[in-house]
Amino acid sequence: MKPTTAHLALPFFDEVHRALAQRLADWTVLQQVDETDDRQACKEWVQRLGAQGWLRYCVPAGPDGAWGGALDRLDSRALVILRETLAFHSTLADFALAMQGLGSGAITLAGTPEQQAAYLPQVASGAKIAAFALSEADAGSDAGAMTTSAMASAGGWTLNGSKTWISNGGLADFYVTFAKTDGAAGTRGITAFIVDADSAGLDSSAHIAVMSPHPLATLTFTDCQLDGSAQLGALNGGFKLAMQTLDIFRASVAGAALGMARRALAEAVQHAKTRKMFGQTLADFQLTQAKIGEMAALVDAAALLTYRAAWLRDEGERLGRSVRVTAEAAMAKMTATENAQRVIDMALQLHGGLGVKVGTKVESLYRDIRALRIYEGATEIQQLIIGKAVLQS
Ligand code: CAA
Repeated sequence: MKPTTAHLALPFFDEVHRALAQRLADWTVLQQVDETDDRQACKEWVQRLGAQGWLRYCVPAGPDGAWGGALDRLDSRALVILRETLAFHSTLADFALAMQGLGSGAITLAGTPEQQAAYLPQVASGAKIAAFALSEADAGSDAGAMTTSAMASAGGWTLNGSKTWISNGGLADFYVTFAKTDGAAGTRGITAFIVDADSAGLDSSAHIAVMSPHPLATLTFTDCQLDGSAQLGALNGGFKLAMQTLDIFRASVAGAALGMARRALAEAVQHAKTRKMFGQTLADFQLTQAKIGEMAALVDAAALLTYRAAWLRDEGERLGRSVRVTAEAAMAKMTATENAQRVIDMALQLHGGLGVKVGTKVESLYRDIRALRIYEGATEIQQLIIGKAVLQS
């Protein structure tokens, strides 16, 4: 099934976005990947997305195009469109692309020229798989409460502790890892590091199985030795760097949720038009029309908040102003994921028994959407961020 592109006529987008959406929609519809094994499938998607140049939107072009990015800057609208279009087709394809961006985002924002040259081109081509290691067992929503420590040692750093819920865990080639460098300074005592997957003292073998399979693991650091060159960004500046990275990618999570909701709506419409009951089609019932109407409005409300957040950030970057879009990105992420859950649930209900049959698209979407309301900041965290911003304005 191919997504519609009428919404791209909205003034949030430029021609580059419209062309991107069209080309990507034409490409995705031809892609069939066996997703029985999520880890294998994820590798396959990274390889295909890299070979076709889609991962080039996860990093900027860099000096003289050296980083391999498609555009001069990380473009939030391009990321939203990529995720929306991929998620419409395959949520694992979307995941594979998203993690290349989230996992390398802090290197784009704060890496040294050497770090950027060493990692970004490989992320853009798919030669290296990226991951973002922030969460811990007792520090999920309260990211500042992490206890993984990085102690300065001769010529570098020694990491000890554990990270969990790490997407691409056990699959990634490197982990952008956040650790405490000053245990008494709270969020002001956290530093980011680039940890290569083959670093001695890093164990990523504890895979986590979830209801919508995707590569996930717990990482354990036991006297994991890093060179001084592994430090990413300012000493004790890691928390802000993590938040700045999330500011970019939370709007793209909204894009993914939007793609899933659009797919559920399309599936519901198709089903309603063909399903016969009581001498007419399902679509002929006013109850169905009301549901479809509600679903369409939920999708459009999510779309407008998502595109606004992405446009605001891009516009700030274009004008050379560093505009904080934390609250707008939070509104987009919260609304798009919550609305998508409702839309998918309604689409499933319209399918009746078929909706819960394994192999039906709405059945997998019903499982796929759930984690998006939790990861990259749960809905309750987004509410907190928005509430604080409103009270401070
Ligand atoms: N940009 C820049 N700076 C920021 C910022 C932002 N967006 N947000 C906060 N900061 C700064 C604050 O200004 C403050 O700075 P000062 O020390 O100079 O005052 C500092 O960071 C601390 O901010 P807060 O006091 O607001 O921090 P907090 O401890 O109250 O926490 C929070 C804030 C919003 C709850 C934060 O902890 C948070 O976002 N939690 C959710 C974590 C999250 O999203 N995890 C996702 C993991 S990744 C993932 O899920 C990926 C995956 O698997 C797919």
